[in-house]
Amino acid sequence: MTWKTIDDMALAGKVVLTRVDINVPMEAGVVTDATRIEKIMPTVEDLLARGAKVILLAHFGRPKGKVVPEMSLRQVLPALETALGRSVVFMEQPTRAAIDALPQNAIVLAENTRFAPGEEANDPAMAAYLAGLGDYFCNDAFSAAHRAHASTEGIARLLPSFAGRLMAEELAALEAALGKPERPVVAVVGGAKVSTKLDLLGNLVTKVDHLVIGGGMANTFLVAQGFEVGKSLAERDMAATALDIFAKAKAAGCTIHLPVDVVVAWEFKAGAANETVEVAACPSDAMILDAGPNTVAELSRVFEACKTLIWNGPLGAFEIEPFNAATNAAAKVAADLTRAGKLVSVAGGGDTVAALNQAGAAQDFTFISTAGGAFLEWMEGKTLPGVAALG
Ligand code: 3PG
Repeated sequence: MTWKTIDDMALAGKVVLTRVDINVPMEAGVVTDATRIEKIMPTVEDLLARGAKVILLAHFGRPKGKVVPEMSLRQVLPALETALGRSVVFMEQPTRAAIDALPQNAIVLAENTRFAPGEEANDPAMAAYLAGLGDYFCNDAFSAAHRAHASTEGIARLLPSFAGRLMAEELAALEAALGKPERPVVAVVGGAKVSTKLDLLGNLVTKVDHLVIGGGMANTFLVAQGFEVGKSLAERDMAATALDIFAKAKAAGCTIHLPVDVVVAWEFKAGAANETVEVAACPSDAMILDAGPNTVAELSRVFEACKTLIWNGPLGAFEIEPFNAATNAAAKVAADLTRAGKLVSVAGGGDTVAALNQAGAAQDFTFISTAGGAFLEWMEGKTLPGVAALG
């Protein structure tokens, strides 16, 4: 699939409706992580430099078609103005006339698109209203591209559309990791539950050479193989599904890697007393909270043998120490190989970015996606409506 980018467009004197994702974490009305805001700056600055008037369209939270004051995008305005170093006009209900009355280099932030019921319903009338506000549509919100909403999908069908810088960067990185990667490819998938990542695992075993399974979901696979996992989090009713994934992997030539040793504890809390044991020796009254050092050593060998790595989800209970050790150690190996030019490493999904940041490894990865759900759907092999509408 191909799409136009900013470079293909003549934008001087035009109004560009720009879908961004500034759904940022916030506490007591203050943005606590401005990464998503900073990431849209190249697009906004480039559009302005080309003489366009920029109207930012975005959602915030899930107000479900109603005006919810705590989810007003007005709260994000100060962080946006700080990042841009200039003032931004806020409009609750933008009109073309109000936009036309602004000076040519103006930037507008429109109120939360999800306050209108037509947004999530992808109502043609809402898409037409939005399209009527400008001349072009720029989608820079890869992380919202899994939603077929009026401001992501509907509008793109009505106006000449193109990808923003961040969108183009995300798509190129993901293509390099799973579309046409340099082989061998290893995927690391962690997280609590197999049931939430079934489609993803099913797709990955057909695309990658090695699949590393970590976190709580590894326990489900261990149970399926006949290991005792004591009081560990495990979806025992998913054992048959896990065996299907093993079979699918075998047929596709994908090697699945599970922990060979584990860190067990008797309490789920930071600093809990723990022991490292062989995977076959989990005590019946203990729970697995991390992978052990022999597992990390095996993963390191797999990473060294591969040219591309895609990572989603931590290997253990990374949010409590010392059960972040395997995630941190494996992330550092990936970061070192990337810095040495031996590995292309791409990571995404909420917890993943937090885990790699905590490991101090994120800055060395080739690419860290800003997307959560969209990254997962893309790993599942699904078509993202917001991307498809750009084609
Ligand atoms: C995200 O935070 O992943 C995106 O902004 C999408 O949000 P949503 O899951 O509420 O659609």
